[in-house]
Amino acid sequence: MTVLVIGSGGREHAIAAALAKSPQTTKIYAIPGNGGIAQFAECVPGIKATELEKIRDFAAANRVDFAVPAADDPLCLGAVDLLEAAGIPCFGPDKAAARIEGSKVFSKNLMRKYNIPTARYESFQDAAAALAYLDTYDTFPVVIKADGLALGKGVIIAPDRGEARRAVRELMEEGKFGASGSSIVIEEFLTGPEVTVLSFTDGTSVVPMVASTDHKRALDGDRGLNTGGMGTIAPSPYYTPEIAARCMEEIFRPTVRAMAQEGTPFRGCLYFGLMLTPDGPKVIEYNCRFGDPETQVVLPLLETDLLEIFRAVREGRLAETPIRWKDAHACCVVLASGGYPEKYETGFPIDFGGADGLAGVRVYHAGTKQLAEGTIVTAGGRVLGVTALSGTLAGAVAAAYAAADRITFPKAYCRRDIGRQALEYLKKEEN
Ligand code: AMP
Ligand code: GLY
Repeated sequence: MTVLVIGSGGREHAIAAALAKSPQTTKIYAIPGNGGIAQFAECVPGIKATELEKIRDFAAANRVDFAVPAADDPLCLGAVDLLEAAGIPCFGPDKAAARIEGSKVFSKNLMRKYNIPTARYESFQDAAAALAYLDTYDTFPVVIKADGLALGKGVIIAPDRGEARRAVRELMEEGKFGASGSSIVIEEFLTGPEVTVLSFTDGTSVVPMVASTDHKRALDGDRGLNTGGMGTIAPSPYYTPEIAARCMEEIFRPTVRAMAQEGTPFRGCLYFGLMLTPDGPKVIEYNCRFGDPETQVVLPLLETDLLEIFRAVREGRLAETPIRWKDAHACCVVLASGGYPEKYETGFPIDFGGADGLAGVRVYHAGTKQLAEGTIVTAGGRVLGVTALSGTLAGAVAAAYAAADRITFPKAYCRRDIGRQALEYLKKEEN
């Protein structure tokens, strides 16, 4: 089969690499792809992931048998609707179902209507009403979220009323995140370990993947700005079998049922961003796609043919499809450009130092580009995701750092504490 992956990050590299292992795959295209995907697939850098008509025409002209729009923008814009209408089967939600990520107001209202545990909230369409609400609000910090997509940056945790008012003004009056801030959600601040559970769902059945934990802040010790994610571990040690069973009953099945009852069944990868609070697991956010960099630790642990799972989801056969996982641990350390998530430079050549040849190591490219003569240069904020597998979490963390430390490019930086809190938690549990 000829397969098309739409997107350009480390997530897309991990998805394309897993699809390349399928005996059913004969050719992979990536739009636009990156320097890592270009090593084994044909990238089409001239088309953007959001140019849906061009993507459809390319897919039709190149006889694509199956398409995987992996990033949030194309999904929320309706990539699946357009490709399916042209007769190209896809893995991913249609535009209506993608609203579960594309609109926080939609997802919060869904959770309220179907009694799915989440932070208490109110939503607002105008700044005066939001500011008046804040005048009566008295538990700080409080969380302010832009309604629409904002690259994971439209969330402000305000320590007091003054900061909260400022955030509302920035989002609603100054348009800091453009149209995505014209509606906002103000919600209760939750505490506890954060866990991501990616799941396969065909609209009826839901099969959770191995749980992972992301590290979203830019700097060690969870300081600095929020980023797309600076590193991940899987399985997440906080996610015990008891918590998993509870999430299945209280969150995963109810969400899939709710989407079907709303007339917008969700097919694809449904991302549950959870906080394990003292009152039980609660939903922090839904995404309509695989997480980045969660995918870079989850898919390397998958034993089953990913293309087979994708086709089963598309055809509503998920319940009959066995899915197996490796009994191993994975850690991904993100190497970023100095300055990310704010201003940074690109175009620096990368010296891999043999990291990608190490046993158990996979170097996923995120922001890279292959020049005509073959050199790989930096081309984004998050440059590489260095994943290592091992029998233990400690082993995976050590191996990921050993590999990451071999890779050099000017102004590279990474967090030095990916997995550290989880290891400390495991040590406490043992004693
Ligand atoms: P989101 O884009 O909704 O995932 O939010 C980004 C990050 O902000 C999350 O990963 C959390 O660390 C934090 N966050 C979001 N909502 C809350 C909340 N209600 N309470 C505490 N932290 C939150
Ligand atoms: N790593 C967070 C996300 O993919 O949304």
